Amino acid sequence: MCGIVGYIGKKEVVPILLEGLSKLEYRGYDSAGVAVCQDGKVTVRKNKGRLSVLEENLSVKKISGTLGIGHTRWATHGEPNDVNAHPHENTAGNIAVIHNGIIENYMKLKEWLIEEGKVFKSETDTEVIAHLIDYYFEGDLVLAVQKSVAKLEGAYAIAVISKSNPNQLVAVRKDSPLIVGVGKGENFVASDIPALLKHTRDVYFLDDGDIAILTQDDIKILNEFGGEVKKEVFNVTWDVKAAEKGGYQHFMLKEIYEQPNAIKETLSPRIDNEGNIDLNEINLTKDDLKEINKIVIVACGTAYHAGLVGKYAIEKFAKIPVETDVASEFRYRDPFIDKNTLFIAVSQSGETADTLAALREAKRRDAKIIAVTNVVGSRISREAEDVFYTWAGPEIAVASTKAYITQLVSMYLIALDLGLKRGTLSKGKYKSVIKELREFPDKAEKILNNVSPIQELADKQFNNQSVFYMGRGIDDYVGREGSLKLKEISYIHSEAIAAGELKHGTIALIEEGILIIAVATQEHLYEKMLSNIKEVKARGAYVIAIAKENQIEIEKTADKVLYIPETINELTPILSVIPLQLLAYYIAVARGCDIDKPKNLAKSVTVE
Ligand code: G6P
Repeated sequence: MCGIVGYIGKKEVVPILLEGLSKLEYRGYDSAGVAVCQDGKVTVRKNKGRLSVLEENLSVKKISGTLGIGHTRWATHGEPNDVNAHPHENTAGNIAVIHNGIIENYMKLKEWLIEEGKVFKSETDTEVIAHLIDYYFEGDLVLAVQKSVAKLEGAYAIAVISKSNPNQLVAVRKDSPLIVGVGKGENFVASDIPALLKHTRDVYFLDDGDIAILTQDDIKILNEFGGEVKKEVFNVTWDVKAAEKGGYQHFMLKEIYEQPNAIKETLSPRIDNEGNIDLNEINLTKDDLKEINKIVIVACGTAYHAGLVGKYAIEKFAKIPVETDVASEFRYRDPFIDKNTLFIAVSQSGETADTLAALREAKRRDAKIIAVTNVVGSRISREAEDVFYTWAGPEIAVASTKAYITQLVSMYLIALDLGLKRGTLSKGKYKSVIKELREFPDKAEKILNNVSPIQELADKQFNNQSVFYMGRGIDDYVGREGSLKLKEISYIHSEAIAAGELKHGTIALIEEGILIIAVATQEHLYEKMLSNIKEVKARGAYVIAIAKENQIEIEKTADKVLYIPETINELTPILSVIPLQLLAYYIAVARGCDIDKPKNLAKSVTVE
């Protein structure tokens, strides 16, 4: 959460900061601000609200300079308002700081700094950093930053400028993402790659404790002990357009439409000419495989729902017991894992604080660690032993779609590979599932070529107060993802339940006109689902069913059916989620919601 951009060079800094921040707004968007160093002073402008409010402010009251920092905020400490927006300054207003993360010991530091005569303006934890740097500043900004971060507990990515050092931008990170962009006669820092793509494709990934010292022509990186470190430049190969809307009304819709290609990108590098899976990124030997007696999948949000499908797929194909847990719960439940556990962290961003903490906990207990992530060089990718990249390309909309679908594909590939290697899956079944998976880009495309029935339904159903999703087996997991999508972007209350649980509580809420989405793709559970649909219909519900093309008799029971192409039972989640994403999207459109930036949410949650 929170987006950071910093620039030092020869160009006017404000447009560069604003453009960079516009690419990071997905990280937080309740306020934004910049600080610019010029003519012996540091000028700060910041505003509550979207970036456009700050842009407006800066177009009226212009500031000029070639060194500056910018921030887009997702509030943790203190309500979103002008004062709590970043950058924050020291009492004299000659040091400005932006920060992403949480300083856990800020209250203690604040009390001490107030005793030392520092005057605080905001309720934020970040402001202590500006005053701390001021406290330690004796002419050397780097030294003051080093002494200050030694006092901080918690997570941070920080960028600092000072009036006394008009040729220097200092940045430091611990547990929050920060990269350095390498330019010619100019250098950058940012929370994420999209903010830099317009200017450079060469980046350094900072490690925990690293301090980057940027001038126009030089970048020096020191580790937490003050020693200089030489890092390899990472060249970003993304197409700039991948991080732009490209004619779509919203990033979310664009990303939904990118799913056929995303599936292909995830599958192709892992399936050889003979149609076998080759996961050379996962270094599990035959002996390792013999030793693994349990798999634990841990994730948050949408990635957790991919983990649930992963559990199903691995248990089905590889016959290993799997637990899937939300990361925030996992680490506090004293999990029973050891060196015979394979731990899989699933995270689009690779920086979710809870997932990272869970991974570290699993490492501490000697589990083997695999990360399934979309972001190359992310913290989680760097701390795992093996990394399985989902290759969905940059996902900008807060509500995850294409990253989720590639997480599903990744889960299936891992499950199939494990199944074959462990001998729990016949070669014939293995081959036939892979063959079917390869059809999925076309099958997903087919759904996307016929969205008008979904749009029409959305136009009729957008006024619901509450929507329930129900399904059995993997259909239940897909329902949970559909329900999450709906609540995230349309703000309609929504719940997903295992259809068999209906009678144990939720049925009490079913009344005339209530909308139920019934995911009913599994042949062996089909009759049971029909009964559940009848039960809610008998109480007045309006039922939209998601079914396979050949299950047309469901039309006799449900009010409306959205079909997915015919496929094998085990793989339906990759297809059945698409109509649910679209339904959530078009309902949110009909309600006039800010789809790419839903209220109170952020794309990457780097605080616990
Ligand atoms: C946030 C995002 C979700 C995402 C979740 C986990 O809540 O809004 O879209 O599923 O974090 O993020 P990750 O990057 O770890 O997959």
